[in-house]
Amino acid sequence: MSDQLNVLFIGDIVADPGLSIVQTFLPSLIKKHSADFVIINGENSHEGMGINEDIVKQLYRLGAHVITGGNHSFAKWKIYQYMRNDKNLLRPMNYPSGAHGYGYGVYEVPGKKLKIGVVNMQGRTFMQPIDDPFRTADWVIDRIKEETDLIFVDFHAEATAEKQAFGWYLDGRVSVVAGTHTHTPTNDARILPQGTGYITDVGMTGAFNSVIGMDRDTSIKRFILQTPHKYSSATGDNRICGVLTKINVSNGKCSYIEPVIYPEFKTSNE
Ligand SMILES: [Fe+2]
Repeated sequence: MSDQLNVLFIGDIVADPGLSIVQTFLPSLIKKHSADFVIINGENSHEGMGINEDIVKQLYRLGAHVITGGNHSFAKWKIYQYMRNDKNLLRPMNYPSGAHGYGYGVYEVPGKKLKIGVVNMQGRTFMQPIDDPFRTADWVIDRIKEETDLIFVDFHAEATAEKQAFGWYLDGRVSVVAGTHTHTPTNDARILPQGTGYITDVGMTGAFNSVIGMDRDTSIKRFILQTPHKYSSATGDNRICGVLTKINVSNGKCSYIEPVIYPEFKTSNE
């Protein structure tokens, strides 16, 4: 058995362009990176907001083991019943007690005698005033460590400062803290001093000919006029954004973290 677990995490799938590119390329990315475990944030996969049962099952067929969410996990009410019965479909665990669904889980890694804990947490700065993610993390980490030291956290948050603070708060206690929600990948993937792999935001999987996945013209109009205009998801320049992490199975520390962006951004016209 290898002493490392390769975990591939794919950032927020936005609408049909995001679904379409994962259908085309996810299986080959899994193979290329020898991913043992695949986590996908799917909170915007259904028409740019929310998720439905068909998409959940489609993502499982493509290789996802766990699907995480965020502030849009509850956007489509038809998923509520399903959320109560699928422990691999997560929503942020710091929603108040009684909200539908699960916020964390401990999962068997297929083909290995290993377990990995996955936690979905949400920030509060410029977002809904839900329960404290820091104190909630204390509780859930202790709970998961009864079963495994391998712990992957999707921190779905708006403010970069809150995300950095959360990464430092969990350094050495979890394997990876990977940020989602802003749909824009950050260039700060690194391993913190106590061994936690960290990135502020992995970015979105969707159409980059857009403003965070939504139609450019509508978005510009909303900023200029400061009035509501119905959003529609954008098309064109589809990319997958995520992060590949390798976790030392003997101690749960991250040994490698690398952004995965496909196709890569063009930075020159030369
Ligand atoms: Fe979000």
